[in-house]
Amino acid sequence: MQEKTGLSRDELLKISHLDKSFGVVKALKDVGFAINYGEIHGLIGENGSGKSTLSSIVAGMQKADNGEMTFLGSPYKPENSIEASAAGVCMVLQEIGTISGISVMENLFLGNGAKFSKYGFMNLRKMNTEAESLLESLQMHHLKPNTLVDYYSFEERKLLEIARAVYNNPRLLIIDETTTALSINGRQILYRLIKKLAGEGKSVLFISHDLDELMKTCDVLTVLRDGVFIDTIPKEKYETNDIKMKMVGRIIEGDYYRSDYDCTFGDEIALKMVHVCTENIYDINLELHKGEILGISGLSESGIHDLGRLAYGIDEPVYGRATHGKDNAPAKKKLSAKRRKAGYVSKDRDKESLILNDNIRNNIAINAYDYVKMGPFIMPNKEKSYVQKQIDNMRIKCFGMNQMVNTLSGGNKQKVAFARWIGVDTEILILDCPTRGVDIGVKTSMYQLMTRLKKDGKSLLIISEELSELIGMCDRILVVKDGKITKEFSRGRELSEHQIIDYMI
Ligand SMILES: Nc1ncnc2c1ncn2[C@@H]1O[C@H](COP(=O)(O)OP(=O)(O)O)[C@@H](O)[C@H]1O
Ligand SMILES: [Mg+2]
Repeated sequence: MQEKTGLSRDELLKISHLDKSFGVVKALKDVGFAINYGEIHGLIGENGSGKSTLSSIVAGMQKADNGEMTFLGSPYKPENSIEASAAGVCMVLQEIGTISGISVMENLFLGNGAKFSKYGFMNLRKMNTEAESLLESLQMHHLKPNTLVDYYSFEERKLLEIARAVYNNPRLLIIDETTTALSINGRQILYRLIKKLAGEGKSVLFISHDLDELMKTCDVLTVLRDGVFIDTIPKEKYETNDIKMKMVGRIIEGDYYRSDYDCTFGDEIALKMVHVCTENIYDINLELHKGEILGISGLSESGIHDLGRLAYGIDEPVYGRATHGKDNAPAKKKLSAKRRKAGYVSKDRDKESLILNDNIRNNIAINAYDYVKMGPFIMPNKEKSYVQKQIDNMRIKCFGMNQMVNTLSGGNKQKVAFARWIGVDTEILILDCPTRGVDIGVKTSMYQLMTRLKKDGKSLLIISEELSELIGMCDRILVVKDGKITKEFSRGRELSEHQIIDYMI
């Protein structure tokens, strides 16, 4: 329904010809599309495709170099996020957006303090009541208004930010990659909320690089690639392969997950946990075989991540033991590279798996000194060619091995974290959330790598909150609930997420 203004009556926000550069990087090039009233609009694209840049311009946090926006029928050019919020646009950021050192309710009503003050006094009781009813209505009862926000986990703080955005009663709510931080429970809360807002005629711009999630949740999807608008697709035309191709600009070759259902692996045991107990874990017994991919599934607080740390040997059990290899060597992190059998990629990649303030070369070579030495001396040329080989093998997108790791995209950082172990022929790989926050192109190559490692007789323990990935990749899946193993599933075509969830919650 085009009117004379060029604006359709259905359109809440229209974006036209947006450009944005950071130095030589063109983050957005002539981007334009529209978001309708009452629409859940997905925005998808690989890491670095411009999603956060675009949404932060709409939310007033940055300014475009060129282009126009129309919102609620009028020209829209917010100077800052306060103006945007006053106009009706609120955003939940990809990064943490709560302020430490103050309470939940103070965070919740940030910028709205005047509402609760009279003659210079804050009416804390009123604030408390209002916070309670807001959190209650969003099913976030576990957040207590008076508690210091620092007391809560990353996930809970993210939920708090969502509550804050909703409190401002936006016409357009923007949610940038928040679900990677959320567990299954948290995601359900968010999905319900989005549906409710849309039912009230409000619009949501939902940003993610998780295609399945967006296809399930959104009415339309806009695809960005390298800062360029590619297409807006309505729900009835969703077709997974077509969207993937639009995202990456090429057909994704090969299978995404493992295609075989051949679950043979050796009898030899690579990793064993016997009666392992800690504060969060009770009597865990498991065996990972040579050539096996064993999955561990559970809610984020169930103890699955503790289990990974114990399996590698960062933490030691209070009772019981975790051992590696035929000779049952105790799992210990501090072993010389040659004696070490296991490698570990942490869920908290930036803190535990990488040295961000160092270059790719040193990050990859750190485990390989035994391989690049001549006598007691490290041979720089040998080291260089070793590192280059890993960069090529893993197809790490970079300017060169001297590039700092903190300037890489999420997916390429994760490739560096993997490369550190792959090059040194690690027998046992413990991977905690191996594809968290990486885009579909990198995910595909990770899955292909895992399949290849299995074929080469390596053993993989994959801890993941993404059930589709475990179902797609593992020979067996153990379900952990409240620190205990509640169920074991074998690989099979019929295995569904629902079957597993029943044992998790
Ligand atoms: N503040 C910034 N300074 C320099 N480059 C930036 C900045 N913000 C984003 N970029 C670059 O712009 C491109 C798009 O980034 P971004 O919008 O964050 O992508 P996405 O959210 O899709 O992952 C990337 O190449 C990124 O490195
Ligand atoms: Mg982003």
